[in-house]
Amino acid sequence: MKVLIVGGGGREHALTWKINQSPYINELFVAPGNAGISKIAKTVDIDAEDIRCLASFAERNSIDLTIVGPEIPLANGIVDSFSKRGLNVFGPSQKAAKIESSKVFSKEFMYKFHIPTASFLVFSDAEEAIHFLEEKDFPIVIKTDGLAGGKGSVVAHNIDEARDAVVHMMIERTWGDAGKRVIIEEFLEGVEASVLAITDGENLIPFQPSQDYKRALDGNEGSNTGGMGAIAPHPKIDEQLLNEIVNNILKPTVDGLRYMGTPFKGILYAGIMLTKNGPKVLEFNCRFGDPETQVIFPIMKSDLLELILYALEGRILEADIEWNNKKAVCVVIASGGYPKRYRKGYTIEGLNNLDKAIKDKALIFHAGTARRGNAIITNGGRVLNVVGLGNTYKLATENSYATVNRIDFEKVFYRSDIASEYV
Ligand code: AMP
Ligand code: GLY
Repeated sequence: MKVLIVGGGGREHALTWKINQSPYINELFVAPGNAGISKIAKTVDIDAEDIRCLASFAERNSIDLTIVGPEIPLANGIVDSFSKRGLNVFGPSQKAAKIESSKVFSKEFMYKFHIPTASFLVFSDAEEAIHFLEEKDFPIVIKTDGLAGGKGSVVAHNIDEARDAVVHMMIERTWGDAGKRVIIEEFLEGVEASVLAITDGENLIPFQPSQDYKRALDGNEGSNTGGMGAIAPHPKIDEQLLNEIVNNILKPTVDGLRYMGTPFKGILYAGIMLTKNGPKVLEFNCRFGDPETQVIFPIMKSDLLELILYALEGRILEADIEWNNKKAVCVVIASGGYPKRYRKGYTIEGLNNLDKAIKDKALIFHAGTARRGNAIITNGGRVLNVVGLGNTYKLATENSYATVNRIDFEKVFYRSDIASEYV
């Protein structure tokens, strides 16, 4: 098969690495890809959000299947456009993708279908939102309705932080129209989990649950980011709890979306808080997680492409996912200033022959990287993902940080406490 993967981050490098192992693959293209992806697939210089150009490329090159990584093209209807042109594509339609692209839609959907989540209110007026917050206890959570690259949720600890969040979102419009409406919701306490499943719109199979480290700094301090590290399997989720999450959260979501006439085909990702009153949804995403994907695929034995083909044919229950016994710990290496302002173009040292040196112990998935002559340079906020593997969380973590220590560039920064609570 000829496959096109859309995207160019760490998630797409992990996807490319995994899909490339499938016996069905004849040719693999990635648009736009990055410096790491270009070593294992053909990169195509088309932006992940340029739906029309991507579809023309797929037509011209007789692509058999397109797999979409990021949320923005999904939210903008890439699946609808490709399908209209008779192109085979894996992911949810624009309407089904609303489960991620509108938090107001997602919260109202959860309320309607009795899916456990934090209690909430929707505001479209900044003054009203601030007035409401003045009467409330803290912490409290404020979220933009629309997409904000994982940075549109603020846990406010006092009225000043809460007011600032509303001003940024609704008045200054830091996230554009995403901040036209906000959700204010109850703060949930517990351990977070990312539970992803592959679904054909009717049935689903869950992947191994994982844990994402969203805050920028050690000790879960600092602002929310797209994710600074991840581990899988999730140490706190056993088979019974996973079944509970599947039956009370994932299945009712797939059923609800089908009932509403917008069946969801693709990867459904539930961001969950494991509270003392059971698992509750923080958010849904309509795609693979980043960096969760980087820890899920290295422990998955099954052929991902085959799973996707089953899902596309509406036969996901005939598929089976097998896992190895390894633990995976991902440390994200970022560029100083991320998730706010950072510079690009720093030369990355230490990558030469590193893959061979760390064989079987760790994997490197590139995120924001590019080539400049023979050098590899930083080209984004999250630059590299180092995934340590081992039979225990301790070994996987040691393998990850031993590799991280071999890599350097100006203003390099990463969290030093990923998985530390489990080793
Ligand atoms: P979201 O964009 O909704 O996934 O939120 C991003 C992050 O903010 C989550 O991963 C949590 O760490 C935190 N968060 C979001 N909602 C809540 C909540 N209701 N209670 C506590 N923390 C939350
Ligand atoms: N790691 C969070 C996300 O993919 O949205």
